[in-house]
Amino acid sequence: MKINILGIESSCDDTSAAVISDKTILSNVIASQKVHESYGGVVPELASRAHQQNIIPVIHEALKRANLSKNQLHAVAYTRGPGLLGSLLVGTSFAKSFAMGLGIPLIDVDHMDAHILAHFAALPDQPYDPPEFPFLCLTVSGGHTQIVRVDSPFEMTILGRTIDDAAGEAFDKAAKIMGLPYPGGPIIDRLAKEGNPEAFKFPHPQIPDFDYSFSGLKTSFLYFLRDELKKDDDFIEKNKNDLCASIQKTIIDILLKKFLKAAHKTGIKTIAIAGGVSANSELQKQMRAAGEKHNLKVHIPKFEFTTDNAAMIAITGYFKYINNEFSDMEKTPYSRSNSK
Ligand code: KG4
Ligand code: ZN
Repeated sequence: MKINILGIESSCDDTSAAVISDKTILSNVIASQKVHESYGGVVPELASRAHQQNIIPVIHEALKRANLSKNQLHAVAYTRGPGLLGSLLVGTSFAKSFAMGLGIPLIDVDHMDAHILAHFAALPDQPYDPPEFPFLCLTVSGGHTQIVRVDSPFEMTILGRTIDDAAGEAFDKAAKIMGLPYPGGPIIDRLAKEGNPEAFKFPHPQIPDFDYSFSGLKTSFLYFLRDELKKDDDFIEKNKNDLCASIQKTIIDILLKKFLKAAHKTGIKTIAIAGGVSANSELQKQMRAAGEKHNLKVHIPKFEFTTDNAAMIAITGYFKYINNEFSDMEKTPYSRSNSK
């Protein structure tokens, strides 16, 4: 018998529901919230209200696309954290009441674990090539930047993390400084394709071990533009593509230098990227090139599993289901990863 699980994700500004049957994703519906664009970032109160509006239609659609009725589900998996508390509460409350109403088990999922385990989600009629354990994962999103050693779906060790801004935040803040809308990451990715990555140089942080820092880069980008704008009002407009290519290159160079150092030090030969920033085309290209150069097997997630989605919650829920790890109604959401 196949195990059917409904996954629910509501940690930030995407309301998503997915249905998985064993390891195969039958549907993955995502409602992205446009309401934040003009604010230059996610407004928590608006996010939770939008989740409340979206959650029932999104779940309805996910079941419909999977061609399953709610009575064919074996469990409900939901994101417990980390994320925005108001947003998490919407998914958590819905998951609890839905599981209780159906009389099926509830599974709580950590959002960061799920980004990594997205690599194990299969799509119907598509090749399945998940990473072999142990592997090293560079998890890069809007809220986190981590180098994680993954020994099994349940054994993950964080070897390094950002001490301030996340890589996605570095993209989004650089975009905001240039007057681009939120989220800036995908826009920088697109404009950078027409720019020269060597046009401008920005300093790399000096941080020990496998940790990262991106707040200094944001400040030097801000000051650099402030000085150039004093000389020429149109500096950003005239140099937008080169600025995007140069800041993108700096972020990627910082990320890969430490990540490859960790691969070298641990001797692990399989590497992967995960999280929203792993959608970045240049990061993917540089990862593949590094893999060839250093003889490492590289895993890049399918595009729909990079930014926030419920398929990753559903596959993590599946691993927990077969490991008999269930949640109870008492568990409350957590906003930060260290409160798991
Ligand atoms: O994983 P995610 O959807 O949400 C969090 O858990 O934070 O990541 C969102 C982040 C945003 O900062 C967004 O700008 C970034 O991922 N992002 C990208 C790209 N697509 C999304 N950054 C660079 N290049 C992209 N193509
Ligand atoms: Zn995420």
